[in-house]
Amino acid sequence: MSPRLDAAGNLRGLRPGSVSGSAVLYLGSHIDTVPDAGAFDGVLGVVLAIALVKALGEHPLPFAVEVLAFSEEEGVRFGVPFIGSRALVGTIDSELLNRLDSAGITVAQAIRDFGLDPAGLPAAKLPAATLGYLEFHIEQGAVLEDLDLPLGIVTSIAGQSRFELLFTGQANHAGTTPRGRRRDALAGAAEWIGCVEREAVTAPDLRATVGQLEVRPGTSNVIPASVYATLDLRHALDSVRSEAAASLLDAGNRIARRRGLDFHSEQRLDQPAIPLDPELICALERAVTRSGSPVHRMVSGAGHDAMIMARSCPAAMLFLRSPGGVSHQTEESVLPEDVASALAAGAEFLKEAESMYA
Ligand code: GLV
Ligand code: MN
Ligand code: MN
Repeated sequence: MSPRLDAAGNLRGLRPGSVSGSAVLYLGSHIDTVPDAGAFDGVLGVVLAIALVKALGEHPLPFAVEVLAFSEEEGVRFGVPFIGSRALVGTIDSELLNRLDSAGITVAQAIRDFGLDPAGLPAAKLPAATLGYLEFHIEQGAVLEDLDLPLGIVTSIAGQSRFELLFTGQANHAGTTPRGRRRDALAGAAEWIGCVEREAVTAPDLRATVGQLEVRPGTSNVIPASVYATLDLRHALDSVRSEAAASLLDAGNRIARRRGLDFHSEQRLDQPAIPLDPELICALERAVTRSGSPVHRMVSGAGHDAMIMARSCPAAMLFLRSPGGVSHQTEESVLPEDVASALAAGAEFLKEAESMYA
């Protein structure tokens, strides 16, 4: 493959097709990660894509294959996920380029600091002659393990909302300030987090997470003046997700009013649920069957670059069983035999593609 870095920091390796100017089939996943992560979320999909290309050897294909190692899928640094794949579908706008990280560095500056030029972003876009995108990924849940299955074919990806919230009260002395004079931002945030959990219990299959809290000034003998919090909501139905978001923002406002706090929220992500491509799903099913593994269709609760790519081209995903159903932590793993099953299914998928795109 000939490798290059595009202007969003995606590492891309192109294997040309048998005729020049061939249309491109994309394979890949992301190589960024979360704090205290495991070793497989994202990067396994990149390694599998490279292994598939390697296994092709000199075998000519009527289409080009480009392996994509996406940057910034998780949204850890700038609070906005999928920055790498957004570059391929052309949705990195000036608002995103001006987003700040916690050190006050913009996305555009981070790109420049990495030795790249944001002016080159348009060249990262998918060409018109794009055939599709296939992503291998660990399941990150326990569905396949519970069914004792190595692989899952993703039919759709749940939508996600992410919010940043700020509860503001007033710092004061912990020992001298009586109940009626306290404007405790953390007590308000804590009450609201209880509502978040209740909402997730009431709405079936809603996933609601407060994953980050910053308490200021953050000292044992000072009443908290402010709390920064994040809210992450997921559901396969966009209406359930947006109703939950509205109800939780309303709860934040009510709790803040009653406690004499200010409440401010900003939405960082409103990513609709997305169905993956029916034709590629059927091709994956044939490939999985021919490779000797059982076929199982499932919805992805986690977000993936495939949900961004699906806006611009047919997209498909193959999941590998996650032992213990754990991910986004160090115990995340895969079974070597499942990796072998995924590789076998991937090789069959490339044969399918050879006849589909002949
Ligand atoms: C990506 O890992 C996500 O948060 O779903
Ligand atoms: Mn992840
Ligand atoms: Mn991932």
